[in-house]
Amino acid sequence: MDTCKIIAAGKAAAQRTVTNDDLSKIVETNDEWISSRTGISRRQITFDESTTDLAYRASVDAINKSGIDKNTIDLIIVATISPDFFMPSTASMLQYRLGLNENNVTAFDLNAACTGLIYAIQVADKFIKSGSVRRALVVGSETLSRTIDWNDRGTCVLFGDGAGALLLERSDSGIMADYTNSRGDAEMNLVLPALPLDSPFSSKLDSPPSKMTMNGGEIFKFATFAIKDTIDNLLRSSRIEIEDISLVIPHQANGRIISKVSKLTKIPLEKFYLNLSKYGNTSSASIGLALAEAMEDGLIKKGDKVLLVGFGGGLTWGGVIHEF
Ligand code: COA
Repeated sequence: MDTCKIIAAGKAAAQRTVTNDDLSKIVETNDEWISSRTGISRRQITFDESTTDLAYRASVDAINKSGIDKNTIDLIIVATISPDFFMPSTASMLQYRLGLNENNVTAFDLNAACTGLIYAIQVADKFIKSGSVRRALVVGSETLSRTIDWNDRGTCVLFGDGAGALLLERSDSGIMADYTNSRGDAEMNLVLPALPLDSPFSSKLDSPPSKMTMNGGEIFKFATFAIKDTIDNLLRSSRIEIEDISLVIPHQANGRIISKVSKLTKIPLEKFYLNLSKYGNTSSASIGLALAEAMEDGLIKKGDKVLLVGFGGGLTWGGVIHEF
């Protein structure tokens, strides 16, 4: 019992379906441009559900699929860049919603942008291996629609709302390698501002824009580097050959990024699991949402080695190899 295993994956997509044609009524765009440049056909946008609501739905799905007693969960990490509040944390509110308030639970939010779920898996893995935690609930949940400038056609067509939830426990097999990395110097290429400096003791700065901004071209280049770097590092440290990986589940940002990576790494495109045409980029939710669907679709069998890889704001990137 020297590693940590994902025993179930749950998902929740926001209720309202927004097609590319719907967006063409809001900004100057069209289905042809969005489909061909990104691979996205539609996305789910929240109507009245919060980030905590989506996290709760995905968590209940994971708990039901696993059949475990929820009272054995003693760690909850929620990866998010669109929390309902800075405090309380989404994780603490999720603990309450799950009826675990009277239990001894460590609960906190984690921000590594679209790599958030990978970072959260890595942290949970260390907690579990240390023996201080029996089972961990690791969730990526986002309502990015509230962070988007709906007048900016360069970003608003890319993103969606949803959640993915994983249950992890100590096991003989499971996580075989993990890798995370970060680089702060190019942070201004993908930005979601927090509160402006504004106190009686600070010089009044011009209020920064409050919505997400992105340099798409630079992020595209970064993403191809980050995925290749992660795959190379994971294969090297685990001494596993790419031929032994049955499925690669990347962060679901843009189908063209994955085509480029496939050419660059010579990993066949069919090995990459993509469901972004239905959901767009759901940031820290996307890998969990994709893993849950791949499992539902019967694409992952016992013994399969699956590589999860994320990249995003920070800039951050990383991944894990997991034997199911
Ligand atoms: N509809 C129609 N035209 C659009 C458009 C839209 N939604 N968004 C941008 N355009 C226009 C641009 O204004 C530009 O017009 P111009 O040539 O007249 O100036 C043209 O399309 C090309 O823009 P460009 O930015 O060069 O397109 P691109 O091929 O690089 O694709 C992205 C843009 C955003 C799809 C692409 O850069 C990308 O996916 N980057 C990575 C983003 C990402 O994954 N972010 C999240 C990381 S976690």
